[in-house]
Amino acid sequence: MRTQSDMVAEAWKALEDSIIYYYGHPVGTVAARDPDVEALNYNQCFVRDFVSSALIYLMNGKTEIVRHFLVETLALQSETKQMDYFNAGQGLMPASFKVASSYGEQYLTADFGEHAIGRVTPVDSSLWWMILLRAYVKSTGDIELAHQPEFQNGIILILKLCLADRFDMFPTMLVPDGAFMIDRRMGVYGHPLEIQVLFYAALRAARELLAPGRQGEIYTMVVNQRLSTLSNHIRQYYWLDLKRLNEMYRYRGEEFGEAAINKFNIYPDSIPEWLTEWMPEKGGYLAGNLGPALMDFRFFALGNLMSIICSLSSPKESQGIMDLIEQRWQDLVGNMPMKICFPAVEGLEWKIMTGCDPKNVPWSYHNGGNWPVLLWLLVAAAQKTGRVEIARRAIELAEKRLCEDEWPEYYDGKNGRLIGKQSRKYQTWTIAGFLVAKELMVNPNHLDLFSFDEDLEGLEWQYSQFS
Ligand code: GLC
Repeated sequence: MRTQSDMVAEAWKALEDSIIYYYGHPVGTVAARDPDVEALNYNQCFVRDFVSSALIYLMNGKTEIVRHFLVETLALQSETKQMDYFNAGQGLMPASFKVASSYGEQYLTADFGEHAIGRVTPVDSSLWWMILLRAYVKSTGDIELAHQPEFQNGIILILKLCLADRFDMFPTMLVPDGAFMIDRRMGVYGHPLEIQVLFYAALRAARELLAPGRQGEIYTMVVNQRLSTLSNHIRQYYWLDLKRLNEMYRYRGEEFGEAAINKFNIYPDSIPEWLTEWMPEKGGYLAGNLGPALMDFRFFALGNLMSIICSLSSPKESQGIMDLIEQRWQDLVGNMPMKICFPAVEGLEWKIMTGCDPKNVPWSYHNGGNWPVLLWLLVAAAQKTGRVEIARRAIELAEKRLCEDEWPEYYDGKNGRLIGKQSRKYQTWTIAGFLVAKELMVNPNHLDLFSFDEDLEGLEWQYSQFS
C-alpha cells in the first residue's frame, strides 16, 4: 500500500519529469507524458495547463520556471498567428508552445489555435497569463518584472483585446465556442461563465500590475468601470436557485422596454426538466451562459469555483455554491473530483451541440466527464468559504485512485468511475493539481497567490460615480 507521502513523492517525480527546457532553463511543463499513446500536441506546454504546475512551484519557492515561462510566452504574444492568411487579434497568448530545434539552434514554436483540432481560439490563455503574472509577483515581490516596458505593453495588449468596443449589449465578453478548457464544440459560445470569471480575475490582476503613470491611470479607470458592471451583471443575472427558478417559471415573454423583468426574454419552457428536481432547497449556482432567450442551465465547475475564489460571486452566493456541491455530491464529485459540467447532453441535442463528436459522448470528456485537475479549484473554493470538510473529503477520494491509475487526464461515467476512454495518463495538470490541493491544506495562506477579496476599490469607484 502506498502511503500518502509516497504519493506526493511520486507526483513530484512525475511533475519534474514533465519539465521542458529551453537553452538549459526550465520554461514549462508538457501537457502529458503517456508512454502508450501518440503524443499529438500533448507534448507541448499548454498555458492553461501550466497554471497548475506554476502554482505548486511558486508555493515551494521555485520561481525560476515561472519567470522563464512568463518571459518566453510574452515574447510569443507578438508573433504573427495566421490561418489561411488571416491574422488573429494582437494580444492573444498561445494555447500552447514547444521547443523546436534546427541546426543546433533552439527556438519556441507556438500554437494560437491555427494547428489545434477544430482551429479553436484560446481566449483563456491571455487571461490565465495575467492571473499567473500576478501570482508570480505576489510570491516573489518582484513587481519590477511586471513594470518592465515589455510586460506593461503585454498587459495593455491583452486589455485592449478584451476591452475593445464590439457589437454587444453586455459587459460580459463575447467569445467563440471551445475558447477555454472545453476546447471543442460544446455549445459554450457567447458569454460562457468560465471566460467571464477569468476575464474578471484578469482585470483585477491587471489593476494591481499596471505601473503608475498616465497610461496606467487611464487603464485603471477603464478596468474599474468594467469590473463593477461585470460583477453586477454576473451576480444578478447568472445566479440560479430555487427562488430564481420560481420567478423564471412564471416569467412572461416578449416584454419590451426598460421596465422588463425578463430582460433576456428567457422562456419558461426552456427550463430543463432535470433542473426542477435537481435544484436543492438551499444553495444554487451561476448559470453556464446567458444571452438573448438563452440560459445555459448546466453547472460548470471551473466557472463556479473560480467565481468563489475571485469573489466574482457574492459571499452569500459562494456559500450557496458550496451548499449545492455538498448536497449534489454524487452528481458533481462522485468517485473523482470533479465533474467538468453537469448534466451531459444526450441524443439529438448531443448531435446538434457537438456536431456528433465521438470524444464528447454523454458522460465523457468535456461532456460530463470528471477532471482531477479541478481538485485544486474545489479545495481552494472550500478553503475560501471556510468549508474545509469538503476539501478533505475530495482529497481523500482523489487519493484512492489517482496515483494507482497513473494520473489520468479525465474519468468517464455518471459518477466518474471509469478512466476516460481516450484519457492520457501522466497528465501533468492532474499531477500538479493534486500537489496544489495537498499544499493548500497544509498552508491555506497560499490561496492569496490566486484569490481575490471582495472588490472594495471597485465599490468605491462605483460609489464615487453615482454620489
Ligand atoms: C485537451 C483539453 C484542454 C487541455 C489540453 C492539454 O485539449 O481539452 O483543456 O488544455 O487537452 O491538456
